[in-house]
Amino acid sequence: MQTVLVLGGPNLSRLGSREPEVYGTATLADIAARCAKVGEELGLRTDCRQTDDEAELVGWVHEAAEGRLPVVLNPAAFTHYSYALRDALAMRTAPLIEVHLSNPAAREAFRHNSVVAGVATGTVAGFGMLSYELALRALAALCDDPSGKGQ
Ligand code: DQA
Repeated sequence: MQTVLVLGGPNLSRLGSREPEVYGTATLADIAARCAKVGEELGLRTDCRQTDDEAELVGWVHEAAEGRLPVVLNPAAFTHYSYALRDALAMRTAPLIEVHLSNPAAREAFRHNSVVAGVATGTVAGFGMLSYELALRALAALCDDPSGKGQ
């Protein structure tokens, strides 16, 4: 079974109590459980991890590149300014889907730029927990398609 790393950046461990009007009431454990369930249906084993530490996240991205593992990534605030994360992601060897619970384009101006988007296969944003499910479905399609386009 194909393993997918589902990675999350800073403050996502606070989901459930963190600005529920923006991020909803699902916790990170709820998201991990949904990913595991949907992943199983799709033939994907999900390995969900979260960190507030940029170096740790970059290390996981290196691990994915070395293992040719697809990644679903919510970079959280790193989305908007971490060139270190972007450079690590640029070395990817498998599809990368950027996800966001909220729709950053509809929020404060500093959230409008993603330094990650340019090295991602695609981005899913604005659907709460469903963003993760949609990202896994996209990955499953990509992994099934020898051309890697998911069509
Ligand atoms: C977020 C959006 C980011 O702007 C923010 O810094 C987050 C969460 C989202 O999932 O909507 O921490 O990535």
